[in-house]
Amino acid sequence: MAGRIPDAFIQDLIARTDIVELIGSRLELKRAGKEFKARSPFTNEKSPSFFVSPQKQMFFCFSSGKNGTAISFLMEYDRLSFVEAVEELARRAGVEVPREGGGQEARPVVDGPLDALAAAQRWFREQLKTAPAAIDYLKQRGVTGETAKTFGIGFAPESWDGLTNFLKDTRHAVDAGLLIERDGGRGGAYDRFRNRVMFPIRDTRGRVIAFGGRTLANDPAKYLNSPETVLFHKGRNLYGLYEARQSSTSALPYLIVVEGYMDVVMLAQYGIREVVGTLGTATTREHLNLLFKSTGKIVFCFDGDRAGRAAAWRALEQVLPEMSENRECVFMFIPEGDDPDTWVQKIGAEAFRAKIGEAVPLSQFLLGELGKQVNLGTLDGRARLAALARPHLDKLREGPLRSLLLDELGRLTRLSRPDLEALSPRQDGPAPSAPEGPAAARAENPASRPVRRALQLLLELPELAEQVDHLELLGQAEVPGVDVLVEAIDFFQAHPGARAAQLVEFWKDTAKGRGLQRLLAEPLPLDAAAVENEFRDAIARLTQKALRARVQGLLAEARLRPLTGAETREIEAITRQLATRSPTS
Ligand code: UTP
Ligand code: MN
Repeated sequence: MAGRIPDAFIQDLIARTDIVELIGSRLELKRAGKEFKARSPFTNEKSPSFFVSPQKQMFFCFSSGKNGTAISFLMEYDRLSFVEAVEELARRAGVEVPREGGGQEARPVVDGPLDALAAAQRWFREQLKTAPAAIDYLKQRGVTGETAKTFGIGFAPESWDGLTNFLKDTRHAVDAGLLIERDGGRGGAYDRFRNRVMFPIRDTRGRVIAFGGRTLANDPAKYLNSPETVLFHKGRNLYGLYEARQSSTSALPYLIVVEGYMDVVMLAQYGIREVVGTLGTATTREHLNLLFKSTGKIVFCFDGDRAGRAAAWRALEQVLPEMSENRECVFMFIPEGDDPDTWVQKIGAEAFRAKIGEAVPLSQFLLGELGKQVNLGTLDGRARLAALARPHLDKLREGPLRSLLLDELGRLTRLSRPDLEALSPRQDGPAPSAPEGPAAARAENPASRPVRRALQLLLELPELAEQVDHLELLGQAEVPGVDVLVEAIDFFQAHPGARAAQLVEFWKDTAKGRGLQRLLAEPLPLDAAAVENEFRDAIARLTQKALRARVQGLLAEARLRPLTGAETREIEAITRQLATRSPTS
């Protein structure tokens, strides 16, 4: 059987195809402003409501409700299968459809970026052998040669063209995020990673799909990760998952989730090999589903400081809708001043495992954190706790965990079950007394209007993504859907020149993708300058929200403990910034 068509190829094919030309060869298109229109080929309409957008590289049929990319048009209009549609586009573009090796037969892998990554990995390993500074660094951090080998740790020397010269094929290496192009490719390319200890990130099949590099110098970016590419998505890959699964042939009793590369590496060196790293990003629901494929229990292991507790809380919020009867989550915190890497070196593997056994169950962590915000000694405080817990309970499916939480909440608040159910009814969605549908059928938290708008503007003019920096900060704005916006910006930053159609194919068959299609179908009668202005404005507003959320977080923390000097200065700096920068200026 033929192998899979690589995603990178499909992305490339959409980038090469002009949807107007494609549809124009089948229907008579008339210009209509920025778009082209025709009578719907899918219904018998009299007046045209079928539009093709060169900007978005998509079609929208308002009478049939169908819309999509060049591929979906061929599937609908020519009645082709997905693969046939891809083959048709490839034929038009004069290229051959590559296949990933299917089955067991030894076929050379045709997937360019993967080859570039594998070659880079070998090269980084070689470089480490002749780099005393890097070897010393790893030794001083306690990493043994064997561990370095297990994790494939290497070294990128202090050079702008070492890897570039080694890899003959520049295009695939650029696609893989290894090299950076100068002047859109006309000025050649240079090495992205320089003077860094390199940690390869593998997919579940063991193929290197990205790298993280730790600086040996005092670079303010302590770690540099590969950008988002067709192969690598921070929100969808976990560092060390492949190695963890390799460590045992039987089911894993649990998987420990830590934040850093070195945390994973050091725990594994101490024999605690069922560990993965989130690469400094928040745990996503995609991460969770990936983890629960390999184990029934997740141990979240965070630093005990404010940032660590906040990260644990964000993880909890992601976990709630994913919980079910056979899934368990617990939380453990490392004493302040240490992280899993340094702590396991201090206390040893056995003590560390014992701490895992003492980790706090999800229900206890949830109510404990909420309980800190109220005074349980007063009636008012207890009512407030119930109100605070309610939205979280609403995210849980019916089941033992939800029952347990309600019981525990009843005990803490001294409220009866019906009283709890009646408290703070949901703003939207079914009334509390209405029977709950299955979790999947319940409406997802819809994106807020400003976020939807920003996304709509971005899809119109994806090059705006380049203007956004501080993506991490932006993601902290406590606005529904902001994570999707951040992911979209990330995608367009990683794929300069991509149109909306590429993101649609990329998110195909996901809830995000369906949301995107709905959004794209809404008309946006603005010229480019207006789109740009409004987008900037929206991002500025969201950034301000993020800054405010950060200050609020710090102030909440200040009620529990004295803030550090750095934190106080951060509050002052943000407050000044918020006062001087107004979004409309
Ligand atoms: P930490 O700042 O906690 O660093 O970042 P660490 O892992 O303890 O680093 P060492 O011990 O000084 O080497 C935790 C994780 O966040 C990501 C990395 O994945 C890191 O391992 N990170 C951190 C970045 O991606 N970029 C950064 O600049 C810093
Ligand atoms: Mn560390």
